[in-house]
Amino acid sequence: MQSNHPLPVDPDRLQAIAQKWGTPTYVYMESMIRERCRMLKTLFPDLPVSWLYAVKANDNPHVIRIIAGEGLGFDTVSYEEVLLCLRLDTDPRDIFYTENNMTDAEMHGAARQGVVLNIGSLGRLKAFCSAYPGSECSIRIKPDISDGHHAKVDTGNQDSKFGIRMDLIAQAVAIARDHGVRIRGIHAHIGSGIQEPENLLAEIEVLLKSSSLLEDLAFINFGGGIPIPYRANETPFDLQRFAQLASGRLRDFLSTVGKPVTFFFEPGRWIVGPAGLLLTQVNTVKDQGRKKFIGTDTGFNHLLRPALYDAYHEVVSITAREAKSTQTYHVAGNICESGDMLGLDRSLPESKPGDYLAILDAGAYGMTMASQYNRRALPAEVLITSDGYHKTIRSRKSPEETVDDFLRETGLAANQVGEVS
Ligand code: LLP
Repeated sequence: MQSNHPLPVDPDRLQAIAQKWGTPTYVYMESMIRERCRMLKTLFPDLPVSWLYAVKANDNPHVIRIIAGEGLGFDTVSYEEVLLCLRLDTDPRDIFYTENNMTDAEMHGAARQGVVLNIGSLGRLKAFCSAYPGSECSIRIKPDISDGHHAKVDTGNQDSKFGIRMDLIAQAVAIARDHGVRIRGIHAHIGSGIQEPENLLAEIEVLLKSSSLLEDLAFINFGGGIPIPYRANETPFDLQRFAQLASGRLRDFLSTVGKPVTFFFEPGRWIVGPAGLLLTQVNTVKDQGRKKFIGTDTGFNHLLRPALYDAYHEVVSITAREAKSTQTYHVAGNICESGDMLGLDRSLPESKPGDYLAILDAGAYGMTMASQYNRRALPAEVLITSDGYHKTIRSRKSPEETVDDFLRETGLAANQVGEVS
């Protein structure tokens, strides 16, 4: 039996997309992205909760536009992400820029653009306050609460590089006050792919309590991290229950704080993860004695998550869905490293070169983490629109274009030789 994880798109449709646009290709479903945004907005009906989309999960401009159209703002973590959202006509006040090792140039750029600047170190706060006395900002704290699907994405723990230590918040407040800067918001993000809802509730508690130190408080941002199930038998995070538990506490807070305060969450994966898959073609099937391998035309250069976090993604054959006999295969990438495995010991229909596979739940942190390792081109991206069409939203370069562009960028194209010194 191959995986019973539901394929979010009709396999014939995917086959048609693969034949028309080639592989490897990321495919995203607009209607699913929209439904998920709308679902989030129903969670706290009687509370001032707003949603920001974490752009790092999937920054294709078409995807950003769809999410903007659903009325979400944006969580950004680099000046480039800020510019991308601005160029797509986002109001700067709907862009939350959480800094991480920010440079002066990035700080001035962001301040000039009028985005909400969320500062995570005392040094950067001092630099900001000295440069922009009388202005406003937000601060990110380190809540000392640990979560995330892997140690590499656990951001709130005691030893995390992110945020201002809780015992230093009073100092941050003093720095701001000395320069007439109003700290309007407080933020934390404990990790991505949260395992225990209780940790998110505990983080909310820490932020609500810490916010009492901020006399100019206007908002509290609880970060992102809402997980999705990657395995067919995984229980999804119970968002309704979480929202119910959080609502009570947020309501109590509002009744005592005595001023209007907005709450933010900033999920990325939950919105786009299940709405995307990576289509790839099998080109090699081989028996290595103890293991049988399916070799594909993609690899960890295109979907890094399995190699980096041992992450699991369902792999489904879209060509041979009804095949009677199955085999257990390692699904191998085409990168020249033995760690380039997209799935281990997967039960799949007996496969042959030319078959197409879909790697599911790849809409978040797929294309945004892709690279050109082994000098291979990036995948194409295709959107299945809400009205049922499909269109490319990023084309794939041919091998020739890939190499020609590379030579141009390095100053060694035929007409440029000698320009790089
Ligand atoms: N807010 C902040 C400040 C973040 O650092 C992140 C993710 C998010 C929000 C969104 O988290 P999400 O809701 O998507 O879990 N490459 C990893 C994930 C890294 C996430 C980094 N920060 C992966 O593929 O699992």
